[in-house]
Amino acid sequence: MKHIYNKGNGSSRTLLLLHGTGGSEHDLLPLAEHIDQDANVLSVRGNVSENGMNRFFRRLAEGVFDEEDLVFRTKELNEFLDQAAADYGFDRDNVIAIGYSNGANIAGSLLFHYQNALKAAILHHPMVPRRGIELPDLSGKAVLITAGSNDPICSPKESTDLQTLLQQANADVEIHWENRGHQLTPSEVEVASQWYQRL
Ligand code: MLT
Repeated sequence: MKHIYNKGNGSSRTLLLLHGTGGSEHDLLPLAEHIDQDANVLSVRGNVSENGMNRFFRRLAEGVFDEEDLVFRTKELNEFLDQAAADYGFDRDNVIAIGYSNGANIAGSLLFHYQNALKAAILHHPMVPRRGIELPDLSGKAVLITAGSNDPICSPKESTDLQTLLQQANADVEIHWENRGHQLTPSEVEVASQWYQRL
């Protein structure tokens, strides 16, 4: 997968950055810089193009996911992480995802399908990636969801359902609400930064 890797200053943590629809591997680099200047950074570009917009998996319509492609792309990303850890020599067991929108959804899908894909995740404006499946035991995994109470794309119910499903799988989940829409706000980034310091 197309990506940027920046080795950190000896930290055992690696931040996995996953952009939103139409974004690129460059978009979330400032967030990583804000949250942890010492961590390794692996920023990945989604392999799917929707009319020229990069995404991490196909959708049939807005908010309606192509489940078969979602499962395939989640496996592809998980295997890419295994390979990248071997190639760059980072700790595969200490990967913390930071995803926005479509990137948050593929990060959520990694948690839904693979027990050890991520150590923790910051999910900005996520949805439930897939319903009706049994999640792996996510004991010891920490997840922060940030959501907008007026988000027309990722409804509040998606956020609270996602929180419930992850908690039922034993993940430690916090949710932060903004009285805003789908945009990623500076105050959310600040909340994420403070949550990360407590990890
Ligand atoms: C998705 O397709 O992942 C969600 O609808 C969010 C987005 O528009 O990227």
